[in-house]
Amino acid sequence: MPTRRTVMKAGGAALLPAAGYGVSAAARAATPAAVELPEPFSVRMPIPRTLTPVARTATTDFYEMTARTTTISVFQGTTTEVYGYNGEFPGPTIRARAGRRVVIAQTNQLTMDTAVHLHGGHVPPASDGFPLDVIAPGATRTYEYPNRQQATTLWYHDHAHHMESEHVYRGLHGFYLIEDPREEALGLPSGAFDLPIMLRDARFAEDGSLHFEPEDFQNRTTILTNGRPQPYFPVAARRYRLRLVNGSNLRSFVLRLGDGEEMTQIATDGGLLGAPVPTREVRISPGERVEVVVDFTGRSGSQVVLADEHAGAVLRFDVGRAVYDASRVPPVLRPLPALATPDVERKMSLGIDPQDFTFKINGKSFDPNRVDTTIRRGTTEVWEVTNSDAFTIPHNFHLHLVQFRILSRNGQPPAPSEAGWKDTVPLGPGETVRLQATFHGPPGRYVYHCHLIDHSSHAMMATMELTD
Ligand code: C2O
Ligand code: CU
Ligand code: CU
Repeated sequence: MPTRRTVMKAGGAALLPAAGYGVSAAARAATPAAVELPEPFSVRMPIPRTLTPVARTATTDFYEMTARTTTISVFQGTTTEVYGYNGEFPGPTIRARAGRRVVIAQTNQLTMDTAVHLHGGHVPPASDGFPLDVIAPGATRTYEYPNRQQATTLWYHDHAHHMESEHVYRGLHGFYLIEDPREEALGLPSGAFDLPIMLRDARFAEDGSLHFEPEDFQNRTTILTNGRPQPYFPVAARRYRLRLVNGSNLRSFVLRLGDGEEMTQIATDGGLLGAPVPTREVRISPGERVEVVVDFTGRSGSQVVLADEHAGAVLRFDVGRAVYDASRVPPVLRPLPALATPDVERKMSLGIDPQDFTFKINGKSFDPNRVDTTIRRGTTEVWEVTNSDAFTIPHNFHLHLVQFRILSRNGQPPAPSEAGWKDTVPLGPGETVRLQATFHGPPGRYVYHCHLIDHSSHAMMATMELTD
């Protein structure tokens, strides 16, 4: 297993072939030529496997997972070492029922500490993956998820102190879907027509190894869709539900379908929108989820590409025969409740310190032993969150424990696409978002942070404590 240092060194050598870098001329001569990505759309997009519980009781499903190294085949004729929950990349999918508990025994078979966070989950503090609550190499930690929240697309990923960006980048990420009867009754596309799709970028070295260095966004030019570069996926000529997660460390996606065809957005991070929102463009920053229904009816025999505005094609749908389709997108999905009256207002400012170029929230670097924000349980708060890096640097803002609602963006009402339940919100340079959340939950410590996780790993994170 390469340590962080050997990986950095290998990457450095790839950038500086003439400098030798301590490698003999003979060894350099033996270095294989750069490996090649397969032809676009020659690999089928895998759907991550749904994990089976090891035991079930009347109230609870019990699972076991192990984080370990594994290999994937991205390039022709070679394999790439990555990390994977249960050796899978992305990890296996957990399908939970609202109101039914999930308990996961997480074993760490890697050589460094890990911590597992359920992003978007309403969970007790001991199960939140607080950055210091780590699983030592060889150890097991049990996480309890009450699933007392509505149907939604969540994801789980590493959150170990200072290491989450490298760990998530190397593959410690997977889907966690909560289902409920009220959503099922709507008749949205389901089963084989409900596709979880994780998008992320990556940088591969010439020998095919996955290369990590912080802030390396310009060089992470390969997009992986459920772990494969530019895959295809066979679909029937009918409606599909796409659950899109951006698992990138820094990259935001702007996705369009075919020649700018219409998609119907049905959900944001925390679950269904009040009503469907037709759109031709899906924007999704790191950590966010967007769900859309796409309709391939009448498209038999055609190929429809999902493409990012900068990175190009990320997935091609190959439309097959028409099948009977009883699914629908009803005009009302799940009306949003009226907003409570807030009790407290706070301001959060995310930015780079001009003195020392470190990432800060309200002028402070992350200290897991300091409490930055104390919140009385049950309080409704408005947070005015600003990206104070006015010129170039994007951030976003992610709050653990609760889903929030966006009240305004730069003084304007939120766009319909972000007017639902959210836990992560993009903040372009100089932008200000006002959000409102009611902090129900057990007492204890949680974090909030920028979800461009090369930033959060470098201290753009803070703590909040819920108290009685
Ligand atoms: Cu997905 Cu604290 O993050
Ligand atoms: Cu989270
Ligand atoms: Cu940031």
